[in-house]
Amino acid sequence: MHFGIIMDGNGRWAAGKGMPRAYGHKVGVLRVEECIRAAPACGIKALTFYAFSTENWKRPQPEIELLFQLLRHQVKKKSLELKEANVRVRFIGSRDRLSPQMVKSINHIENLTVNCDGLCLNIAMDYGGRDEIVRIVKTISNDISAGKLKADEVSETYLDCISDLSHCGPPDLIIRTGGEKRLSNFLLWHSAYSELSFVDIMWPEFTSKRLIEQVDLFTKKTRKYGSLDIVNVS
Ligand code: IPE
Ligand code: IPE
Ligand code: MG
Repeated sequence: MHFGIIMDGNGRWAAGKGMPRAYGHKVGVLRVEECIRAAPACGIKALTFYAFSTENWKRPQPEIELLFQLLRHQVKKKSLELKEANVRVRFIGSRDRLSPQMVKSINHIENLTVNCDGLCLNIAMDYGGRDEIVRIVKTISNDISAGKLKADEVSETYLDCISDLSHCGPPDLIIRTGGEKRLSNFLLWHSAYSELSFVDIMWPEFTSKRLIEQVDLFTKKTRKYGSLDIVNVS
């Protein structure tokens, strides 16, 4: 089972408590940790968290800085713990707009966990589904220009292989907290056959109990991928 999570509602949750948005982001980080810890026992093999979208650059600079600072701090603090928990960490998205320190932290944790074969943890950072598709198209056109690929060899499988999720495949379920029913540019190519679950609670309230509820709901679903045969979820 691979779950993608759109962690929405941090700001509204904090505002509801009369607190600054930053407080919501900080508590949100605790919920990420909690879900990572709970995932393997629930049968989850991969988790993809939407941490910062290509559109989130439109937010005020202090909020952007806080989000990056929180992420860098977590990466530093949790690297060894994640390695010991056998979690393989990867960042997906674009790296050219990230600061050199952020890229250094990303490289560090990716290298440190490179041999881990437990939970596959993807963090979508400066990620946009449309941006990913543009990067894929560029790779394909470069491959064709370099004579490595013929135009009629372009296939869905080829796109999968050069996509950001080539290592773990598409999400079986995408959960969005915060009450909005949209993907906000998350995993557009990969969500073609994902189950979708929109929950009204805000991300800072999404405890491991909520994750387990989502697993239970998901395992009751029937998936047929357009055919008449039910495909088992695993
Ligand atoms: C999600 O919470 C966190 C990120 C986008 C990084 P928001 O910050 O979008 O919180 P709301 O939706 O404004 O409440
Ligand atoms: C989606 O939340 C992006 C992340 C969770 C990183 P947003 O709050 O940015 O989405 P919109 O603006 O409501 O679509
Ligand atoms: Mg939001």
